[in-house]
Amino acid sequence: MTIQPVNEKTLAKAAALIQDGGLVAFPTETVYGLGADATNEAAVASIFEAKGRPSFNPLIIHVTRNTDLLPYVEWNDRARLLAKIFWPGPLTFVLRRAVGSPIAPSVSGKGDTIAVRNPNHPVAQELINRAGSPIAAPSANASGKLSPTTAEHVWDSLGNKVDMILDGGPTLVGLESTVLDLTLPTPTILRHGGITKESLVALLGEVQESHAITEAPQSPGMLSSHYAPRLPLRLNALSARDDEAFLTFGPELFVQSGAYRINLSPRSNLDEAAANLFSMLCIVDREPYKGIAVMPIPLTGLGAAINDRLARAAAPRD
Ligand code: TXA
Ligand code: MG
Repeated sequence: MTIQPVNEKTLAKAAALIQDGGLVAFPTETVYGLGADATNEAAVASIFEAKGRPSFNPLIIHVTRNTDLLPYVEWNDRARLLAKIFWPGPLTFVLRRAVGSPIAPSVSGKGDTIAVRNPNHPVAQELINRAGSPIAAPSANASGKLSPTTAEHVWDSLGNKVDMILDGGPTLVGLESTVLDLTLPTPTILRHGGITKESLVALLGEVQESHAITEAPQSPGMLSSHYAPRLPLRLNALSARDDEAFLTFGPELFVQSGAYRINLSPRSNLDEAAANLFSMLCIVDREPYKGIAVMPIPLTGLGAAINDRLARAAAPRD
């Protein structure tokens, strides 16, 4: 059985697997990651293969406070400030690759930058520390599919392609990290996620959003038809047809539909809605429903990331 409970024995085994070039799926506070030793080119290549991920799409390396980042990336003052406030947490920095960096070249895709994050989860921290090197990890799902928020989701998406899945229960944030490019004169959000734009602006002053989010694939996770459920999604719906499942938000005072309903957050809490988003999409993405109608979600706070993922999930498939 690939899914394992977290204990001393399985943690030791997982760290040994990483050191031997294996693939271990592990929980973070955002979503489950598919991890390999970031300094081992063959191990990193097997991440791309297991996910069916295009080789131009770069990976995030995961570190802890014990990791000396200087050999890996060009660290700067902004990154230091942000790390002090938001790490460990759901914020990823894109930084320049340090000269002679031992991080495997394919981690960077076709570019010369490396994305770094310190995840706020005890199992992720323990695994990185025991492995003794940064762990490269995309979300632990087949490329283009919904990110996994439970160990079972990982199993359903990747099965035996993973050497071990460490089961840390459902993830708390439920959406991926915010990806912030710090190589440009103005810090630039490449992907909305667990740390809101508002909180970055409060600390940094100016923050811009990349047009790549809607256009060129600077952060290829932002290609339009990413996060695709099987069923078509209808956004900003105020009612649902009887053959649709209805993903609602807030009190359902005016909802008159007979459709099956599942509520992202009855008390209109965006953190709760984010935590529920992928798992609730999974629940309704199946027969007998013919589509998924989604109520409007505010654009503030984590709502920006939620709306971003929903827009991608609803985008036309090619
Ligand atoms: O919360 C998360 O970020 C999760 C957990 C496991 O840490 N990881 C995750 O990884 O979502 P992934 O590979 O599914 O998404 C990473 C995103 C992609 O959109 C990728 O294109 C972008 O970050 N990215 C990674 N490295 C980059 C780089 N050097 N420059 C620009 N974008 C980068
Ligand atoms: Mg992903």
